[in-house]
Amino acid sequence: MDNYAKITYEGKTYKLPVVKGSEGEKAIDISTLRQKTGLITLDPGFANTGSCISSITFMSGEKGILRYRGIPVEELARHSTFTETAYLLINGVLPTRNELNRFSVLLNDNSLVHEDMQIFYQNFPRASHPMGILSSMVNALRSFYPELQTVEEEINKTVTRLLSKTRTLAAMSYKISRGHKVIYPRTDLPYCANFLNMMFDSPVKPYRINRDMVKALNVFWILHADHEQNCSTSAVRVVGSGRVNLYAAISAGIAALWGPLHGGANQAVIEMLSDIAKNGGDIDTVIKKAKDKNDPFRLMGFGHRVYKTYDPRAKIMKKMCDKVLKKLKINDPLLDIAKKLEEIALNDNYFIDHNLYPNVDFYSGILLRAMGIPTKMFTVMFAIGRLPGWIAQWKESADDPKWRLSRPRQIYTGPTKTKYIPIDER
Ligand code: SDX
Repeated sequence: MDNYAKITYEGKTYKLPVVKGSEGEKAIDISTLRQKTGLITLDPGFANTGSCISSITFMSGEKGILRYRGIPVEELARHSTFTETAYLLINGVLPTRNELNRFSVLLNDNSLVHEDMQIFYQNFPRASHPMGILSSMVNALRSFYPELQTVEEEINKTVTRLLSKTRTLAAMSYKISRGHKVIYPRTDLPYCANFLNMMFDSPVKPYRINRDMVKALNVFWILHADHEQNCSTSAVRVVGSGRVNLYAAISAGIAALWGPLHGGANQAVIEMLSDIAKNGGDIDTVIKKAKDKNDPFRLMGFGHRVYKTYDPRAKIMKKMCDKVLKKLKINDPLLDIAKKLEEIALNDNYFIDHNLYPNVDFYSGILLRAMGIPTKMFTVMFAIGRLPGWIAQWKESADDPKWRLSRPRQIYTGPTKTKYIPIDER
């Protein structure tokens, strides 16, 4: 196999090194292209561009594979917990029992947020979207924990603070949005049970921890924990490359995830399925709109930049929906509509020809509804799940001795040199 590629331009041939990954992926290293040829590359949306070398997550879009530090996500969903998976992503190895216990204690020790932060919530309009609140509040954490992140020990403290306090901030925003008393984290509860308790416990009706829900939430967050260089992870890396603090970089990731083409799709899927239900289950109109080139409507929860086959996470999510709804005797008409929609789409040439399959967001909202999570908080749930991935990816770039400021080039197509015309002569 050649370990270089040749480019011939204006009669000259240039050799560029080819980099090969542990799973056989190959890339042309173009870091010397401009200096050798005067050329840059152009790749809107970066569909053909690798931004970094990473050892955290591997996806195969053709085979529908997803592995965190080499471990298939199916195995982690079956055997692991979200806390253990977060440790794996951030530290690169599965923890020993002692390491996991110490990590869990650290998460619990850092689960409270400063009382003054509750005042911030009072000033958001009640109808504020929880993603905008979360992004602002995570950024605000820096004001309460201004330590520089220069040494390992401070970085690790910031990491556990972020993992633990972001979950507390999310539950707080829900309680305050409903005008209910804020429920504090409990040190006797593990990560996921603690969140459900903060969300649903109340002085008048104590919340009974439901083991099925806790397991489902662990799996939900494991499935969302990392996903290579997606839009929000790239935002964390790009913002982090300016050497800003980790809270600000994660806040940028939360903002990037909010969009309906990215993490906001889980909320958009439920809104789409609810509309279909309202229109008497009229799926055909939705399919027609999704296929209409002149209609900007997209089938939400379908399609993916990398997966050109079934998203492995969607498979697990769909099975979990069946299992949890059956166990809890919940009959959600939106699940039947989702399955019908999937069946029609997967047998329609437009979706087959475009390699459009359900992605992680297609069924995730059904599961969140069964947990009692309000639709507007679905993307917040995605953000909490993605936190370990964002942090691991930020750490990997910060640990890279060649960590550079991200600053892409462009091809300019605006006016060439133009004279300034004084206002009275225009
Ligand atoms: C996430 O990157 C990640 O890893 C993201 C994520 C993660 O874990 O971080 O997996 C999470 O963001 C999942 C994706 C959630 N978004 C949605 O479900 C929104 C609906 N999906 C689409 O908008 C779309 O599929 C994207 C944005 C996900 C991917 O779009 P691409 O790769 O930019 O592809 P494209 O928009 O260029 O579409 C290619 C073709 C087009 O048709 P042609 O013009 O070539 O004929 O496919 C069509 C599109 O019209 N198409 C769809 C479609 N998605 C693509 N047509 C109808 N419905 C859709 N959903």
